[in-house]
Formats: sequence, C-alpha cells, structure tokens
Amino acid sequence: MSNAKLWGGRFSESTSEAVEAFSESVSFDARLWKHDIAGSKAHARMLGRVGVLPAADVEAICAGLDAIAGDIEAGRFEWRTALEDVHMNIEQALTDRIGEAGKRLHTGRSRNDQIATDIRLYLRDAIDDLVADLNRLSEALRALAEREADTIMPGFTHLQVAQPVTFGHHMLAWREQILRDRDRLLDARRRTNVCPLGAAALAGTVYPIDRAYVAEQLGFDSVTANSLDTVSDRDFAIEFVSACSLLMVHLSRWSEELILWNTPMFGFVQLPDRFCTGSSIMPQKKNPDVPELVRGKSARTTGDLMSLLMLMKAQPLAYNRDNQEDKEPLFDAHDTTAACVALYAELIPALSVNRSACREAAIQGFSTATDLADYLVRKGMAFRDAHHVVGNVVAHAVQQGTDLASLPLDTLKGFSATIESDVFEVLSVEGSVAARDHVGGTAPARVRAAAKDASRES
Ligand code: ARG
Repeated sequence: MSNAKLWGGRFSESTSEAVEAFSESVSFDARLWKHDIAGSKAHARMLGRVGVLPAADVEAICAGLDAIAGDIEAGRFEWRTALEDVHMNIEQALTDRIGEAGKRLHTGRSRNDQIATDIRLYLRDAIDDLVADLNRLSEALRALAEREADTIMPGFTHLQVAQPVTFGHHMLAWREQILRDRDRLLDARRRTNVCPLGAAALAGTVYPIDRAYVAEQLGFDSVTANSLDTVSDRDFAIEFVSACSLLMVHLSRWSEELILWNTPMFGFVQLPDRFCTGSSIMPQKKNPDVPELVRGKSARTTGDLMSLLMLMKAQPLAYNRDNQEDKEPLFDAHDTTAACVALYAELIPALSVNRSACREAAIQGFSTATDLADYLVRKGMAFRDAHHVVGNVVAHAVQQGTDLASLPLDTLKGFSATIESDVFEVLSVEGSVAARDHVGGTAPARVRAAAKDASRES
C-alpha cells in the first residue's frame, strides 16, 4: 500500500499509527497558524512577483489562506494528526479548497525554513506583548513608589534588619529588575526579527527568489545570512526563554518578600482578598496563593531553558527533527511568564501598605546604629572605633529592652563624651533616610524624584 501523505511518493507502506502519534506536532504547533498563514501569503506573493507563479494562482492561494484563517478562527477547522503539523494541515486544506494552485505554494520552500519563520514571527509578537505588560508593571511600581516615598521600613541584609529605607525605594529596586528584563527582551527581539524564508530545506533554492520582498511583507528587519544556520538556529528561542527565566527569578524574589511581609509577624502589607484563598480546615487563613504560585512557576521557566539548551547541545547542522521539541518549552515559558507578569501588574497597585508596622520594625531593629557611628566620625572619632562604641551602645539597649532613640542623653554620653543632644536627629529613622540624599539613595526626596522621572519607562 502506498502512502497518502504529502511526502508519500517514495514510500511503499503507510506510517504506523504509533509513529504517527509519536511524531505529530499539530497538537501543539497549531497555535502557530496565524504566523504560518502570514508566512505563506508573503511567500506566494513573492513567487508571483518573480514570475514563478501566475498572478491567478497567487490570488487563489491568498484568498484560500484567508478563508482557512476564518475557519480556524471560528473553530470550524479540523486539525488532523495524520497530517502531522500545522504546515501540512493548512497546505492540505488549501489544496482541498482551491485545487492545483494550492499544490504550487510549497515551491522554493521547505518546512524547515517555514517553521523557523513561524517561530520567529510568533516570538516577535510574544515579546511585544510581554514588553507592553512589563511597561504596565513598571508603571505600577513607579506609582506605588511615589505613594510610599515617605514610608519607612527596615532594609535587610542577611534578612536581618540593617538600615532604614523607604518603601518607595524598595519598589524602585524591583522596578530596576523589570527595566533590565525589558531591555533583554528587546535585545533578543533584534536577533529574532530576521527572515529565514529562502533557506528552504538547508541549501537554498534554485528559483529566482526575492528574499528582501518576503522580509519586507512580514515586517522582518533583514534576511538571514546563511541557509544552513537558518534552519538549524534556535538561539533566538533560547535567548527569549533565558530572558523569561531571569524575569521569573525576579518575580520569585518579590514573591518571597511579599509572602513574608504579608505574615502577621511582619504585617508590612496586606494582599487584597481577591488575590488570596482560604483554607478548607483553618477558618482564619488567608493564603498568599498568587505570590506562592509565581514563586513555584519560576521553576518551570528555568526548566524550559534547560530543555532548550540540552535540545541544541551537540546537534549537527543543519535541521534535525529534534528541533520539533523546541515548541513546548518555548510556549510554556511564554505562557507562564506572560501570566505572572499580568497578575503582578494587577496586584502591585492593589497592595495595601501598613505604614506604622513598617516603621515600628525599622525602629526595633536598631537600624540607625550605623548613623550613630557616622555621627561619632563627624565628631572626630575613627570609624573603626566608632563601630566598636556603637556596638557597646546596642548591647546596652538590648539589655535594657529599648531602642537607640529612647536612650537618655546621659547614658549615651557614658559611651562617648562627644555625644550631644543633636544625636537624636540621627537616631531617628526619619533622619537616617533623609540623610541618604544622593543619586540612588533612599531619601524620600530622591525616591520621589526618581519616581517622577518617567523617562526610563519606554
Ligand atoms: N514539525 C517540524 C518542527 O517543528 C516542522 C519541520 C519539519 N521538517 C521536516 N523535515 N520534517 O520542526
């Protein structure tokens, strides 16, 4: 029995069902249909322009593809596993619909340059959508920073109270991460937005193709330079998933902080009810599910990145069927990252900050001890000696169960005669943050200025 597949000419028996089920990709690459159709139309128009296809065929092909797009959109299209992938499903449907002209579409191209084109077009859209959401998220952080520019909280190192900072400053730190993520995605976009069509299977094609015209129609910036590299390259996919992984690592860090801050022990923030769920047994529980899931989902993206790197490792040129395995990790990384970014863009503006709990925690942690040391330095003491003296003061305060600003002046003088009543200005958390008034510093005035500077938003 011969083989009825589009490529079945040289086969004497049909594909085993097990092999068909094992090798199909339409169950996951069907989502590339829009990009596949766009690529096919551009290719057909180019074949018409260079005289390989008659104008009537080009017209029939484009109209047929548009009709198929309508069917897919309306859920009327029947995807068939036997036709293997998105490309052959659409091509077969085209031929069923328009006859002979449909069979001419694949002139001068291969599924190898076709799939590379589809993925690049898909990723370009993915990047543009993700960047738009990142802009929304970064704007949310900027606005929250402005709102909480005067809110004092403990800054941590080693998760121990270190020095007072402002809540707004903390939000702007998160925003820096997001701005870098956005830059990485935009940088990856440059290498993604290059047109593979024309590489055909691996060696190029004998037809007098006009690659620049195809690229122009599809909005690509340029065409790829080497046909072997073109069909084998998935660097752009790895770069995208890598940027997503790092972005998700950032979101996992925010999540961890929010989960801690949302506990009654910290009480710095409250997540809105609509972002939380309860417990089926403990009636008092309000769990921070969204940050927890984001933290958990960051594992997936990094796993996806590892899958892609290992997929490409040791692959000889040019195209190998291994590459079909690039899609699921790529789509998963995209879906996961896009969902997490979109949720955080909703959550951040809805965060309620408990200003007094934040301030209280900064006071209790002796967070102005460094300010006291700096004060002694200004009075002429060497920093290393000042560090030691303040260590003694803190030990005393711990013993007395009090904070630094509540120690009587006489007691403080006992540690260093140079201490005067002006010391209380530096011991206050407000004085401490206000004094850090330079570019990148935590002073409310600086935070407000940085938050007002929207020039970095786009
Ligand atoms: N489904 C394939 C992929 O994802 C499309 C290219 C198939 N090429 C081939 N020579 N079998 O990579």
